[in-house]
Amino acid sequence: MKGVIEYIEQNHERYLGELNEFLKIPSVSTDPDAKQDVAKAAEFVAVQLQAAGMDKVEIFPTEGHPIVCGEAMADPDRPTVLVYGHYDVQPVDPIELWETGPFEPAIRQGELYARGAADDKGQVFIHFKSAEAFLATGNELPVNVKYLIEGEEEIGSPHLDPFIEDNQELLDADVVMVSDTAMFARGVPSICYALRGLAYFQLDLEGAATDLHSGSFGGAVVNPAFELSRILAEMKDSTGRITIPGFYDQVRDLTDRERQEFDRLPFDKAAYMKDLGIRELPGEEGYSPLERLWSRPTFEVNGLLSGFSGEGAKTVLPARAMAKVSMRLVPDQDPEAIADLFEDYVRSLTPSSVRLEITRMHGGKPWIAALEHPALVATARAIKKGFGKEPVFQREGGSIPVVATFAELMDIPSVLMGIGLPDENAHAPNERLNLDNFYGGIKSSAYFLDELSRSGL
Ligand code: BES
Ligand code: MN
Ligand code: MN
Repeated sequence: MKGVIEYIEQNHERYLGELNEFLKIPSVSTDPDAKQDVAKAAEFVAVQLQAAGMDKVEIFPTEGHPIVCGEAMADPDRPTVLVYGHYDVQPVDPIELWETGPFEPAIRQGELYARGAADDKGQVFIHFKSAEAFLATGNELPVNVKYLIEGEEEIGSPHLDPFIEDNQELLDADVVMVSDTAMFARGVPSICYALRGLAYFQLDLEGAATDLHSGSFGGAVVNPAFELSRILAEMKDSTGRITIPGFYDQVRDLTDRERQEFDRLPFDKAAYMKDLGIRELPGEEGYSPLERLWSRPTFEVNGLLSGFSGEGAKTVLPARAMAKVSMRLVPDQDPEAIADLFEDYVRSLTPSSVRLEITRMHGGKPWIAALEHPALVATARAIKKGFGKEPVFQREGGSIPVVATFAELMDIPSVLMGIGLPDENAHAPNERLNLDNFYGGIKSSAYFLDELSRSGL
């Protein structure tokens, strides 16, 4: 990799300029009015891949947002890495809490602020630049590289699995590289080896045909807001355990080794609570906070709507109540099976006085890697060179559903080399990316390509 690292160091300014252009595109995948902008971001990715020197770049339209693929085949006998990432971003609201515009990238104290800076534009971008650095310096690529960059990750990747199923040859690889997670902490680079899955629902309860006077009708007519609250309150017992029958049957226990490794990580409980403005960390009994975050399933209420919530008081008996709820799942729970258990349980708790509608929304399977895979060893070496520090191994509470698809459908292992930080406000106002990590990430990605070529894969 002669001259590659020097090239990267000489091009910091240009990288930043190009990333800024990427971040200026408001590619909010859930917003129907942003369809053109999402397409523009796909275009941007394609141009980046072309500029990096790929032999082949293609934008595949889908029923939703396009998928961008690219590849540069150095030698069929060498290992192949498939880089996965997403160019779509989350909505920006509440907009008034942003210090600078979400699509007007700005630097403050070494952090680049913009929606998508960490999740995932800034992270996926590092892998465009590593390949470019090899080719621009007259080097061959040490391994074959392919890219699969989608625009619907933040809405549950509805068109990705069918695309992968139909294009297995195009996407075939020895390992998938994903940078879409966070390091354990500032200055503590990590490799993530497990993700939680997700099962998401909307519950609608309906009582009377219309809202009613709570004095004239209360006591005689059912209150759906109350019944919904009661159903939700039944979902956990007083020890924090989820009460859905059969819910824990497939949960894989932590190994003793994992428990010990988690305990060794520099988790500062007091600082964590202070940062978040909370005084306690309540949760399932018998598990530490990291164990609960990474290896235990959850049940969360994401939204609740019913009755009167304006200023003042209104004596109303609401006709309807709605909740959005979701569960984070862990290996080896299956989202479909859990959805069935949940539906049965909710129905069993719902009184016949209300009508219940359950809508299944997006989901995703949990995933856990085999820790001894040579690609993980290569990644650890690359991080050591790129960041000057040995990475720690961690799990993650969030979800990237496609990682399980690669494992199950195509039997390809994934490596998660996240260069974000846990406090970089992904999905929240003032999202940012640390610029040292951005540059360290580009170098690590370059070292990864080199290490992978010597990994024995
Ligand atoms: N990059 C995140 C995944 C993630 C979350 C990594 C938290 C590290 C910490 C990804 O873009 C994301 O937000 N995933 C969704 C998946 C869902 C829409 C199916 C999530 O976890 O909520
Ligand atoms: Mn992401
Ligand atoms: Mn996200």
